[in-house]
Amino acid sequence: MALTDFDLVLFGGGGDLSMRKLIPALYARDRAGDLPATAQIICVGRNARTAAEFIETVNENAKSHINEKTFNQAVWEKFCARIKYVALDASDASTYQPLNDVLRDSSAITRVFYLATPPTLFAKICHNLSARGLATEQTRVVLEKPLGRDLASAKQINQEVSQVFKESQIYRIDHYLGKEAVQNLLALRFGNVLFEPLWRREWISDVQITIAEELGVGNRMGYYETSGALRDMMQNHLLQLLCIVAMEPPLSVTPDAVRDEKLKVLRSLKPFTQNTLAKNVVRGQYRAGHVDGVAVPAYRQEKNADPDSNTETFVAVKAEIDTWRWAGVPFYLRTGKRMADQLAEIVVRFKSIPHSIFAQSTSSFQPNCLVIRLQPDDGLQLNLMAKTPGDGMRLKPVELELDFAETFKAPRMDAYERLLLDVLRGQLTLFMRSDELEAAWEWVEPVLRYWEQEGNEPLPYASGTWGPAASSSLIGRDGLQWREEALPE
Ligand code: BG6
Repeated sequence: MALTDFDLVLFGGGGDLSMRKLIPALYARDRAGDLPATAQIICVGRNARTAAEFIETVNENAKSHINEKTFNQAVWEKFCARIKYVALDASDASTYQPLNDVLRDSSAITRVFYLATPPTLFAKICHNLSARGLATEQTRVVLEKPLGRDLASAKQINQEVSQVFKESQIYRIDHYLGKEAVQNLLALRFGNVLFEPLWRREWISDVQITIAEELGVGNRMGYYETSGALRDMMQNHLLQLLCIVAMEPPLSVTPDAVRDEKLKVLRSLKPFTQNTLAKNVVRGQYRAGHVDGVAVPAYRQEKNADPDSNTETFVAVKAEIDTWRWAGVPFYLRTGKRMADQLAEIVVRFKSIPHSIFAQSTSSFQPNCLVIRLQPDDGLQLNLMAKTPGDGMRLKPVELELDFAETFKAPRMDAYERLLLDVLRGQLTLFMRSDELEAAWEWVEPVLRYWEQEGNEPLPYASGTWGPAASSSLIGRDGLQWREEALPE
């Protein structure tokens, strides 16, 4: 579907997200021919800069995040000509005139405000846009994560933003939902009959969801210190992945059909108790170590770090979903920075065979396992038992691999490219509704409070490892291992 002409305003336009993700994603779509000729990208920042100075910054900071293979100087220059820069104080409506001046006033032009700012500014900016007559019926607003710091602040933001925009105008972004592999998981579950009858407690023993990063906090210490892994990754990305794995088949892919089903999953998550808070949650913080053979400092020694910081850079949780489909199936979720590898994957492990008819004992059969890989490349792996060739009957595990890049040979689309296109087309399915967001906060809230009360330190783990030993015990107690720990060296 072709895009109609648009004015896209990026609040926080000179910031990290804009330079690393949003501008490169828009460039990629321009190169693919998706952007209408007169579409404008208006970057908003605090500092007074000329358009030329801002483009220089874009050249310095955003260009390096564009895949070299797809970079084309002529397209880049044409793309940069779309970018305008507006300086204003987002919290003060009286400074908004330059924005009024640059926006085109026509109902035929889609107007999007993308708030890539701290969440404390969301409500203020929406009110200011309204005060300046910039929030019309056709306007869309995109809210970047983190949406609040806890349930109360998330509710407050939702409530205030809803005074200016209707729910159908609000796009709460979680870029994990835009990843190709997540779309593929939907295709796998609801485009095939094979898995659906097995996708339940009778056949699935457990599910693991891992997002592991080799990177540390980099230059985002200011933000990260107020966040930590639970707020930064678990409350949003991991829970959204869990929803896609666990939800019932939606009636269709319309926004509310999908979001209703995701909401049911979030509301069915077993609430934490004092006992499960102590037993089923692991919090860690990286110490110095080696990642890919390179020595890296401890979190507390990073640039601008608080040397006594107790912010967690790792969290692992055992979750349970109280529904007929999932009762008794543990969902193990973990995420961390400075881990042994850079990967994101969902591992669905099926039950063991009930009985071996072969000479091999039942316990020597590896349970079937479906691995949905999101990163570094996207793919699917199905582990089966097969006979080894030759005389006799010996079974061993084999892998069926589907590498999407290899199979489709089509250019990949970054999550932000897909989601920006969806915003510009007015498609809400891959964005979170307010009740979903609040249900996710509601589930993690007791963990936040527990950590505050306890005042205990996160467990240390060496950079370049899979996190604190307690993470292995969390799953080990149930007689299981994280997939990477179970793989042969
Ligand atoms: C962001 C987090 O939402 O996701 C970052 O704020 C994290 O801390 C990033 O590094 C991970 O995203 P991806 O797509 O690189 O796995």
